[in-house]
Amino acid sequence: MTAINQVTDYALVGDVGVITLNSPPVNALSAPVRDGLAGGVAAALADPGAKAVVIICEGRTFIAGADITEFGGPQKGASLFDVQEAIEGASKPVVAAIHGTALGGGLEVALCCHYRVAVPSARCGLPEVNLGLLPGAGGTQRLPRIVGVEKALDMMTSGQHVPAKECLAMGLVDEIVDEGKLREGAAAFASRIVAEGRPLRKVRDLDEKMAAARGRPEIFENFRKANARRFRGFLAPEYNIRCVEAAVNQPFEEGLKTERKMFGELIAGSQSAAQRYAFFAERQAAKIPDVPDDTPTIAVNKVGIIGGGTMGGGIAMNFMNVGIPVTIVEVKQDALDRGIATIRRNYERSRTAKPEETEARMSRLTGSLDLASLADCDLVIEAVFERMDVKKDIFARLDAICKPGAILATNTSGLNIDEIASATKRPEAVIGLHFFSPANVMKLLEVVRADHTSKEVIATSMKLARKIGKIAVLVGVCPGFVGNRILGARQREANKLIMEGAMPWDVDRVLYDFGFPMGPFAMSDLAGLDIGWVKERSKGETIRDVLCEMDRRGQKTGAGWYDYDENRVAKPSPVTEKILHDFIVKSGANPRKISDEEILERCIYPMINEGAKILEEKKAIRASDIDVVWENGYGWPVYRGGPMWYGDHVGLPKVLEKMKAFEAQMGETYKPAALLEKLAAEGKRFADL
Ligand code: 3HC
Repeated sequence: MTAINQVTDYALVGDVGVITLNSPPVNALSAPVRDGLAGGVAAALADPGAKAVVIICEGRTFIAGADITEFGGPQKGASLFDVQEAIEGASKPVVAAIHGTALGGGLEVALCCHYRVAVPSARCGLPEVNLGLLPGAGGTQRLPRIVGVEKALDMMTSGQHVPAKECLAMGLVDEIVDEGKLREGAAAFASRIVAEGRPLRKVRDLDEKMAAARGRPEIFENFRKANARRFRGFLAPEYNIRCVEAAVNQPFEEGLKTERKMFGELIAGSQSAAQRYAFFAERQAAKIPDVPDDTPTIAVNKVGIIGGGTMGGGIAMNFMNVGIPVTIVEVKQDALDRGIATIRRNYERSRTAKPEETEARMSRLTGSLDLASLADCDLVIEAVFERMDVKKDIFARLDAICKPGAILATNTSGLNIDEIASATKRPEAVIGLHFFSPANVMKLLEVVRADHTSKEVIATSMKLARKIGKIAVLVGVCPGFVGNRILGARQREANKLIMEGAMPWDVDRVLYDFGFPMGPFAMSDLAGLDIGWVKERSKGETIRDVLCEMDRRGQKTGAGWYDYDENRVAKPSPVTEKILHDFIVKSGANPRKISDEEILERCIYPMINEGAKILEEKKAIRASDIDVVWENGYGWPVYRGGPMWYGDHVGLPKVLEKMKAFEAQMGETYKPAALLEKLAAEGKRFADL
């Protein structure tokens, strides 16, 4: 074995030269990896004993892409394009041996190899779109040549990691070898290629699938139309599509030039910067300064859930999906039956779960009417309605029932968890696990640390969140925690704006155009205006009271803020407009015309200000955690980075100036956070904290 550099070895195995890369954690194509590849290929080509070459990786994965941390920095080491040319132009067959994930630049290197083998658990993908990019190392030109236009468009615009078996079926992988035997399998494959005298197959020269798509621009138009909703606001999907069009319509070298140009535009733009930031922010959120990675954790082999409603049922599914048995406790048999039936229906409706999987998952669920049946659970999550007295009563009883060491969690979306914990004699075991509805779908989990929550309980919750596929963010106890507290600031503004003369559909449109999936009034119509509204107590004092009293309770009654037609298509409502007008006049004011710019600033800047207060009070560890919450739980468009990132990029002095102006006009509620004042004065950003 010869060391090529600190991350690369070369060895001759029989008649095959094997280049091994070992650059943890994911063998990203950093300068040393590129140098190592270049050196390894040169060594293999110069080795008279080597008739073929294999490129393989140590550790958990094949090359998982370019090294994202190098983006924007000075170019060091061998250029990726030169390395790719050396591989593709090699005089001996080169085989990529794939395990883990061959992603982005990693797959683009594999596409320059003449053949690709993989183990069954491997996956391939071009996930650059999720970073606001496109595959910039020939992937947009080579992938369609090998898998065809439709599949390439799907892979490139979804960023999906495609399992080895599917890769084999679509020709991306040439052979699947036994799990755990990749090195031997790939070397045997390479020897066979030589023995059979198979050609040096260059993907760039394939034309059959391009010819099939040539002169059929409707393929692209149909694809754009079918995915318009998913792509809304994002630049990268369209750029990816244009590159595939270039692959079809331009010679290979020209297509590469198009790709390079478009990659250059994307990487210099703010969307990709925001999306790359989001990638690292998500990973950063898992790191808690005073709870190191090696903190002991509690084994969670059985979970109890109190409350079998929409929330409890959704939470249960997360654990059932990963093989953890769940007991749901309800107070009445019919509620329990309904809850369990809903879970089954959710599985049956899901496109991904096969019938036998549904049965396997359902077999992990037990229903009970007795809290005592939670005695042997390692984790209990309370998901009943938001009333402090009810929650305290439940926690006092859990304290008496649950085994020592069990974690007692509440799914409250904003109540004081310290107070809930005070109902027990083990506040160190109490934590908030705030799931978002629908809990089996939404990625975000706010893990709420109370005053006495132990480090073991925090570490276990964070680890468990990852196991059930959630993005967990650790936050502190305060009304609404991080997400709902900031939502409160936006909601207050939205409500105020319509009392000044903006129409609900104006506010919704501005926020929708900003990139949110829905504005607050459309959302309210969807959820129902009558959540928390009590007919007997309603005195027509608020706009909501009036709307509900008129039976305009949202989509379900065919009218709310908006009017709805029989297909539930929303239209601005003259009725709402009149009610608003009357309310404003009754309050002694005059409705005024409010610009879109003002609507946006009034909705967004107070959110940033609230985020600054949250940081000041240390209820979030870092600004990027707040952004992770808003992107994954509240539909903040990822290409705008989250409220704190957005604030940094608008410029904190500007945000401060506007908040001061709002304060002068409308009072104390708008007082700028001290942290905002400080950062703006020092010319710093939230990201510098
Ligand atoms: N560059 C730099 N660092 C990377 C990286 C990359 N491409 N991919 C992962 N990392 C880092 C992560 O930041 C993390 O660091 P940390 O431990 O300090 O937080 C560490 O590697 C482990 O990553 P994960 O926690 O995500 O590990 P998982 O095992 O859960 O997932 C993975 C592994 C599926 C490879 C996932 O990391 C991933 O999706 N990575 C990004 C893949 C990607 O987007 N590739 C395309 C890059 S762009 C490109 O190739 C451009 C080209 O076309 C020119």
